[in-house]
Amino acid sequence: MPSNTWTRRHIISLADFTTTEYDTVLQTAASFREVLSRRTPKVPTLQGQVVANLFFEPSTRTRSSFELAAKRLSADTLNFAAATSSLTKGETILDTAKTYLAMGTDIMVIRHQEAGVPQAIANEMDRLESRVGVLNAGDGQHEHPSQALLDLFTITTLLDPDRPRIELLKDKKIAIVGDILHSRVARSNIWSLTATGAEVHLASTPTLLPQLFANYGIDRPGKLFLHWDVEPALENADFVMTLRLQKERMTQHLLPSLREYHQRYGITRDRIKLCKDEVKVLHPGPVNRGVEISSDLMDDLQFSLISQQVTSGVAVRMALLYLMGGGKA
Ligand code: NCD
Repeated sequence: MPSNTWTRRHIISLADFTTTEYDTVLQTAASFREVLSRRTPKVPTLQGQVVANLFFEPSTRTRSSFELAAKRLSADTLNFAAATSSLTKGETILDTAKTYLAMGTDIMVIRHQEAGVPQAIANEMDRLESRVGVLNAGDGQHEHPSQALLDLFTITTLLDPDRPRIELLKDKKIAIVGDILHSRVARSNIWSLTATGAEVHLASTPTLLPQLFANYGIDRPGKLFLHWDVEPALENADFVMTLRLQKERMTQHLLPSLREYHQRYGITRDRIKLCKDEVKVLHPGPVNRGVEISSDLMDDLQFSLISQQVTSGVAVRMALLYLMGGGKA
């Protein structure tokens, strides 16, 4: 396990993550990937610590992944589902968090449909002088740091399985295609990928990719480009990240139809030919099959890293919980 020089108590956003922090997460995740390949894939690292998963919004993979990661580290886990909680009786979110604090929770993993909730809970925990760490598991359209870190781990591990590190992505071309406007995954990925020195090309319809995204790449080693056609983003790309069209967040008429979107921007076997021969395709899931990506390409293991992303997710989340939990080996 790399020596633990981690000082960040809460992980809310990647906007101010340092090069050292990215590499620490990647190296620690590589150690946990090795643990997960053992016959007994479990370590006593967080024994006695309590990890509470507070998910105020539906989730399949992120929630299960954090739960498994905490269990593989021997932490005690508490699971909360908004629909069956005291929130339905009028309790405030901060009071719910304080209830978990009073039970001795060490780390709170929080997902909420409103941007800013994990930060608000972290502020409250600090105000109360608790030592609780808050990890943002996706807040509204703001950020989803653990998803971007697992994406980073998946692609850097492919380039060097023994020593994943961010410098491996310097000058690589990465396209992010889909509903960027509503995507917290895209926002976190823009921070992490531009920090590596990669060329990041965003592509979508003008309605789902407003010009203000250009400001995200400023002052970063990598370069950020915006395209309202998909082809220039795909040309010679090393990696393509596809994003779900978040229909539940589209309150205005942003697209003529999903069929038309697929025709102009969908990642298909034909379009992928514009990329490098060895291109790999990612998707954070859940996928609208046949909309942002064609169904056959999604299942083609020559191109698709989708299952690797899910597998990487457990190792990366173990790394984050380990680093936040004080890294007691
Ligand atoms: C993403 C999310 O919830 O932001 N999914 C995930 O965490 N794996 C992306 C999405 O919902 O489209």
